[in-house]
Order: sequence, then structure tokens, then C-alpha cells
Amino acid sequence: MAAFDFDPFDETVRRDPYPVYARGRREHPVFAHPTFPVVSLFRYQDTQALLRDPSQWSNFFPLPPGMERPDDMPPSMLGVDPPEHTRLRGLVSQAFTPRVIRLLEPRLHAIAHELLDAALAQRTLDLVATLTHPLPVIVIAEMLGIPARDRAQFKVWSDALVKNLGMGLLTPPTIERLDEQRTVIREMRTYFLPLVEERRREPREDLLSGLVAAESEGSRLSFDEMIQTLILLLVAGNETTTNLIGNAVLELLAHPAALDELRADPSLMPDAIEEVLRFSSPVQMDPRRAVRATEIGGVPVAENQFVISWIGSANRDEEVFERPDVFDIHRKNNRHLAFGFGPHYCLGASLASLEAQVAVGALLERSRTFRRADDGLLPLHPSIVFRGVRALPLVVEPA
Ligand code: HEM
Repeated sequence: MAAFDFDPFDETVRRDPYPVYARGRREHPVFAHPTFPVVSLFRYQDTQALLRDPSQWSNFFPLPPGMERPDDMPPSMLGVDPPEHTRLRGLVSQAFTPRVIRLLEPRLHAIAHELLDAALAQRTLDLVATLTHPLPVIVIAEMLGIPARDRAQFKVWSDALVKNLGMGLLTPPTIERLDEQRTVIREMRTYFLPLVEERRREPREDLLSGLVAAESEGSRLSFDEMIQTLILLLVAGNETTTNLIGNAVLELLAHPAALDELRADPSLMPDAIEEVLRFSSPVQMDPRRAVRATEIGGVPVAENQFVISWIGSANRDEEVFERPDVFDIHRKNNRHLAFGFGPHYCLGASLASLEAQVAVGALLERSRTFRRADDGLLPLHPSIVFRGVRALPLVVEPA
């Protein structure tokens, strides 16, 4: 039998990683890559153990000497461990609780239908350009209280920040990549400055005003941390939610019986979206750094070594999910790890799920049928962190 080699950059693997993941779970659940200085985890239990313990597995990834972060670019909550993490997350977590998010539903509905009004003027449309990309950007811009009309610019920034996500884990970071990112961060900072000034003078009922209030008390949030939080919130939910909605539509096209059931009974939508999160996870991997040397399942891990948990594989683990390779919108007790696990569990999980439910629901309401415009291979997102497509041309017959 061929030696096990897992190359997450290989396009064939990226299009269908599940057979490689299955072999990984079976034969090499803890895999020290021969060609990259990282260890990969394929099983659910190992992934959970990694993500739940920040005292051994850190989210802070230091850069090599000479490439360190400038002082005015501290890591966001995503890149720090408790107790800093607890402080930074606590400042915004109230805005993302399931109760607060449910109140947004009518507004999400209105945005999705407005976008579809424009999109359905054409018979062939790119669902990514017309619905799945703009929706999360408009929603988070409104929550933050920044002008949604600037969303073309947010897309440019967001694309630049996430296109190489994950690269630095597997290959040494390059100064060019870091410079590109830092230029974008400085541009975003310049963009936010007048808005921050405005909220200092005249607070409103938005997230930006909340952060400005915490910053002006000084001890809770520094100015630079505030900017990093704004950038994280503006970027973290875009590509991910775009991919979730796109993956949902692709799975429904691949499983017409499930699509028919959903059309007949929209109350199945929340469970259907949970199943998409498990079956076609928009974020495929979640990395950590070893705080001290240890071992996992007998495989040694050096101090500071990176360990990557493959969420996409954990979510197909046969030890946890019955018939894991079956797309089942009736699945009960769906304990997927698509939003991570432990202290960094996705802050936007309730928001993202609701956005996807509303977007897919609106597409079903507004169409009699939809199908792929052609059978060609769809362009993949460039980062190995994500599973999703950058364009999804559909022929839609309006309702
Ligand atoms: C389908 C959509 C989404 C997926 C699959 C997703 C996935 C994830 C995952 C896996 C993590 C954990 C990272 C880690 O363990 O290091 C995470 C964290 C995070 N997500 Fe999401 N996310 C989604 C949407 C959103 C949205 C809509 C927002 C907000 C607008 C958001 C904001 C965040 C933030 C702020 C964190 C960092 C939390 C922390 O460090 O405590 N995400 N997300």
C-alpha cells in the first residue's frame, strides 16, 4: 500500500479531502508530516482535547526574529490565550448571544430578499457575487455601525487578509506576505479613525460605540486593541459565512431529496444548516502551538511546534457520528466542531447559522428551481483553511 502522504495544498485533495481524512483517522490519527514541520490530528477526540486546553496549546503564534509584529498591531482575541483572551472577548460577547442574534432575524430577512430582488433580474446569476458574499458583510457592517456602502473596499481588505491564511503554519512566513498584511491593517486603521472620533463625540446604539466606551475607560481596552477587534469582527465572519451558504446550496443540489424536503417543510432548515456545517465544514482546520514539549498518541511534539486539528475530518469521525459520510438533514445530536471548541469557540456561531438559514430559506422561497449553470469545476477559495467556492453560477427559475 502507498505510504500515507497528506498534502493539504494538493487541489485534488482540497476538492475531496474526505478519503484522505478517513485514511488518516484509521492509520495515522496523529501524523508528523515528513515535509512540513507540523503534526496533523484527524480524530474528533484529539481535536477536542487540543482546542479545550489553552494551558498546553496556545493560540499565540510568534513570528521569527526580525519579523515581529509592530507594537501598534497587538494580536486580536483570536491570537491570545487566557486571561487576555477572556478580557478581549468579554468586551463584545454580549452582542453575539443567541438571544441578541434572534432579534436580528427580520433585518437579515430584509437584506437577503433585497439582494435576491436585484439578483433575480437575471436568469443566470453568480450566487457568491449577488448573495453569499454581500450578505454577511452588510450584516456585520450594520452591527458595528460602519457604512455598508464601503463594502467593495471591505472585500478588497478581507480578501487580502485571508487569502494566505494557514500558509505561515506550514511554510516559513515571508516578509512580503507580512508587509502586505500590515499595509492592509494600516489602511483599515486609517479608515476606522474618523468613525471612532465620531462615536467619541456622539455615541450610538452600535458595537463601535461600545468598543469606544471601553477604550475611553483606558484600563479595559487600548486603542490598538480596539482597532484589532474591529478588524477581526469585520473579517472573521465574511469568508466563513459566504462559504457556509455556498456549501449549503451545493449540498442541496447534490442531494435533491433533501432539497425537496426543505421546500416542503422550512422548519427543517436549522438542522439542515447544522448538517452542512458538519458535512462540508467551511473552516477545515484549527491550529495550536505547543507551550511545552509533550506527546499525542505516542507521537512526540516539540516545544513551540504547531499542531493542526483537521475539523473537516473530526466532523466525519465514525466513532462519534453514525454513517458520517451520509448527508442527513434529520441528524440528531449533531455535535460537530465546525465552530471550534473551548475558549475560542466561534463568537459569531449563532449569527452565522442564522444568516445561512435565512439566506438559503430566501433562495428557496424566491425560486421554483435552480441548477448549476454549467458542469465546470468551480474555483476554490485560495486558502487551505477554508472549504468553499469563489463563484457559483446558477440558472434560477423565479417562483
Ligand atoms: C460559518 C461561519 C463561521 C465559521 C465556520 C466560523 C468558524 C470559527 C472557528 C473554527 C473559530 C475558532 C478559532 C480557534 O479555535 O482558534 C472561530 C472563532 C471566531 N469567530 Fe467564527 N466562524 C464563522 C462565522 C463567524 C462570524 C459571522 C463572526 C462574527 C461576525 C465570527 C467571529 C469569530 C471570532 C471573533 C472568533 C474568535 C473567538 C475567540 O478567539 O474567542 N465568526 N470561528
